[in-house]
Amino acid sequence: MADLFNYKGKRVVITGGATGIGAALVDLLRTLDVEHITVLDIKKPAGDVDVFIETNLSDKDSVDAAMAQLDGRIDVLFSNAGVAANAGVRACMAVNVAASRRLVDGLLDRITEGGTVVFTASMAGNGWPAQVAEINALLDIADWDEFLDWCEAHPEVVNDVYGFSKMCMQVYVMRKSHEAIRRGVRINSICPAPVDTPLMKDFRETMGDKVIDWSVTVQGNGRMAVAADIAPPLAFMGSDAASFINGVNLLVDSGFTAAMTTGQVDFSGLA
Ligand SMILES: NC(=O)c1ccc[n+]([C@@H]2O[C@H](COP(=O)([O-])OP(=O)(O)OC[C@H]3O[C@@H](n4cnc5c(N)ncnc54)[C@H](O)[C@@H]3O)[C@@H](O)[C@H]2O)c1
Repeated sequence: MADLFNYKGKRVVITGGATGIGAALVDLLRTLDVEHITVLDIKKPAGDVDVFIETNLSDKDSVDAAMAQLDGRIDVLFSNAGVAANAGVRACMAVNVAASRRLVDGLLDRITEGGTVVFTASMAGNGWPAQVAEINALLDIADWDEFLDWCEAHPEVVNDVYGFSKMCMQVYVMRKSHEAIRRGVRINSICPAPVDTPLMKDFRETMGDKVIDWSVTVQGNGRMAVAADIAPPLAFMGSDAASFINGVNLLVDSGFTAAMTTGQVDFSGLA
């Protein structure tokens, strides 16, 4: 049974493995006997990785060059890199969405049957049902530049660009998983609440301390998640233990969404 969670013999690719959640995932997968880790990142990872491919995920040519350098079989793709709204609409939508789906489109045929893709989406994307028509229209645009042009041309839709990017990823998981499972590949995401990583500084700048601190205070255990809280659910989703899970956006939010959905959240801290 324990072998279901093990990564023995598995070759994985991780985007954003230099810091935060991705770095914690690298450390965890090493303890799970992973065979080979390739990291695609703009920064060099300090962790124990086999191959580092310097990649700027906001640049289509850099994404393509990284894919061309990837060698051998891929069992699990963790598309985890992300940036906040202060990166700007184009870069935020490129890194968080366009690069993620370009990697899936480019690598799907190379992912082994029984393999999987796991995205790090976010609880910040939970609002997708209210904008699903616009998100579907955007996701129908295959071309990289046209996709980003659409985002810049629709500020009324993309006004909270980070949240919107994560809405797109939650919808993308549901759209793409249906096609992928026919090739034997599962596609899911993990949707964390705020996590204490280097990105938190950017979230505090763009969302404000009040919203972040409030969301942490009202969630189940009243503390902010750390990267080590998020790496295990990612590893689980990528493991054989999740072999019948497909098209799922798994909340890792200590019950925040459950409390919101059932009207149990106290908003007075936001006033
Ligand atoms: N920290 C949070 O509160 C939180 C909450 C929910 C979801 N997430 C998501 O988790 C994922 C990981 O974020 P994190 O919190 O670990 O932050 P982080 O900043 O520590 O990690 C992001 C990683 O992505 C890499 N990266 C950034 N821009 C890049 C680019 N242009 N090209 C290539 N690599 C790039 C960084 O170098 C870093 O290794 C992101 O997708 C983020 O949106 C974070």
